[in-house]
Amino acid sequence: MSKYDFHELYSDYEYEDHGRNAHRQQPKTKKKQKGDGRSPKIMANDQKMDEIRQMDDSQESWVPSYAAALDPMHHERQWVIDSVAPFYHDALITDVTRLIKGGKEANVYTCTANPHTGFDLVAAKLYRPRMLRHLKNDAIYKAGRQLRDEEGKQMKGRRVKLALRKKTNFGKHVDIMWWINNEYSVQKKLYDAGADVPQPLAHAGNTILMEFIGDEYGSAPTLSEVTLNSSEAEPLFQRVMGNVALMLDCHHIHGDLSAYNILYWEGELTIIDFPQMVEARHNPHAYELLLRDVTRVCDYFNRFGVTADPQTLTDDLWLPYMGSES
Ligand SMILES: Nc1ncnc2c1ncn2[C@@H]1O[C@H](COP(=O)(O)OP(=O)(O)OP(=O)(O)O)[C@@H](O)[C@H]1O
Ligand SMILES: [Mg+2]
Repeated sequence: MSKYDFHELYSDYEYEDHGRNAHRQQPKTKKKQKGDGRSPKIMANDQKMDEIRQMDDSQESWVPSYAAALDPMHHERQWVIDSVAPFYHDALITDVTRLIKGGKEANVYTCTANPHTGFDLVAAKLYRPRMLRHLKNDAIYKAGRQLRDEEGKQMKGRRVKLALRKKTNFGKHVDIMWWINNEYSVQKKLYDAGADVPQPLAHAGNTILMEFIGDEYGSAPTLSEVTLNSSEAEPLFQRVMGNVALMLDCHHIHGDLSAYNILYWEGELTIIDFPQMVEARHNPHAYELLLRDVTRVCDYFNRFGVTADPQTLTDDLWLPYMGSES
């Protein structure tokens, strides 16, 4: 499957321009004739109004440079514009410059930050409308979680439950919003607790805006792409395990931790990708998912000479945690 296949679905959402542009593009029904009876003063005034309208339109039809380079018929173009426009209008970003990666569930783009944010670059993670199809066994991760709306308020009631069960469009919308809201709020909670995760800045619709790890030449590689030297492997391993412990203190288990979801930049690690984060207190599969995370981390570091027993490490985390919980 090509990495752009997901845009098929976006094409289902017919983009309808109800803005001022739409009116401007409509064929003019009545062409103004020369000498239509308007005085020169009124004509000059009308011209000024046109100029002002056009200034306004250029603001509304903002096209970031990455999208501008795409074929206007390419679905990705409008998808990117629509997804990141709220951040442009909220003065958080000034441009989208490149696609970092098109993954199974989302595309991640580099954006130029508005200087007042204190960042040069930020990353925008755009979830595809079809992301849920790719999240296999999502019930395993969702078990024990509460459903929250875009504002983080708990959603209850027959309508929501019925819609989710019957997978109506409303149900699918609630489901997608649930995953995205969950990723953002968990990432914020972990960042505030001091975990090595990118600082989340904002979220809107299908998109999360966060601190960018890397520089103007490209994003940080994942651990899976780098070869560690023997002196840094052990401290970095301890650092990852420290983050796993901190997450557990916050009652969370990453659920998909591996060398593919840890970025390496200037000797430091940053853990990413939280949609499948698990509630340690309520999820009946929490222990197994923790063991899997720890095992994958041990397997990776083992290649660079770190010896650790994942079962022992998991139990050393889990048993005191359960003790403190009971
Ligand atoms: N904050 C960030 N700064 C720099 N690069 C990032 C950031 N977040 C994500 N990336 C890049 O985007 C890629 C995909 O991000 P992420 O793992 O969150 O999405 P995904 O849809 O789960 O992708 P995958 O299916 O590959 O796991 C990462 O491997 C990394 O290269
Ligand atoms: Mg990932």
